[in-house]
Amino acid sequence: MLFTVPSNQIERLAPHRLSDELERGQVVYFATCPLRLPDDADLTFLRSDIAQYLLRKNVSYYPDANRLTGIKADPTVIARAMSILKTYSEHLQTFLRGVMPAFMRGARLGTSSYRPLQERGRNLKPHASNELVHVDAGAYGATHGDRILRFFTNVNPTEDRVWMSKGCFIDLYRRHAKLAGIDAEARGGVEEKWVDRAYSGFVRAASKVLPLASVIDSSPYDRTMRKFHNYMKDTPRFQRDTEGQVQMIFKPYSSWMVLTDAVSHACISGQHAFVDTFLVPLANCRLRQLAPYEILRASAPFAAAER
Ligand SMILES: [Fe+2]
Repeated sequence: MLFTVPSNQIERLAPHRLSDELERGQVVYFATCPLRLPDDADLTFLRSDIAQYLLRKNVSYYPDANRLTGIKADPTVIARAMSILKTYSEHLQTFLRGVMPAFMRGARLGTSSYRPLQERGRNLKPHASNELVHVDAGAYGATHGDRILRFFTNVNPTEDRVWMSKGCFIDLYRRHAKLAGIDAEARGGVEEKWVDRAYSGFVRAASKVLPLASVIDSSPYDRTMRKFHNYMKDTPRFQRDTEGQVQMIFKPYSSWMVLTDAVSHACISGQHAFVDTFLVPLANCRLRQLAPYEILRASAPFAAAER
């Protein structure tokens, strides 16, 4: 499940190598962060100084709205946090476009976040908890089948970040779709009908004026994925089931990326990480049959005839 990229090979990788690994459900791991990190003073600022200003579990920069959320502080603190996240994400985008040019074409950065809190034992409500294994659903409203790519860097100087996975969407769907009730949902079809397209068109128009209005967008695909996400987090038996379970350890200053809509994951422990989220067009996938949208669509063979 872990595809480790040797640091001396990054420049020599074929243009589709890393994206193919992602699409196959691999977590692509860099033992050393492949991009320039903020300097020590800025990292210390994030690790130590920002705690007193926290309002939420994440400090997030939204490039579309040019806005920072998660802290309440005076403008100099906000400007500094925003500048650190913005600069890091610019380096990251340059890196990703260099190593996966075709895959990243038209990809959109949703947020660049910093996670300041210890993940272990936070006792959050199940749907908000990172400690429960899940696949991601409906980032920033709706993806309509586009892929959710997340890039992480552990900036804790001494503590590993530890993940748990129970495997990929395709296997989890086979084993759990019925129990989750999403087989019936998928039989209704994930392709969008006129009413879905009209609603999304309205939301798109509204988000030109209010960028964050896009969070109210929805689609049959996103509703199905949300149902599966909630089933995973709400079902103790699923969480206890060890079939296909793998633990992954991410060292200080390492980075990793993964399509989190198709690879189940939970963060068991760790503190201080950057997390950047991209929406990648489904059309960029070369192994499209492995994308959750296509798996759900394929399980609705009569959907087109029914409409
Ligand atoms: Fe997640």
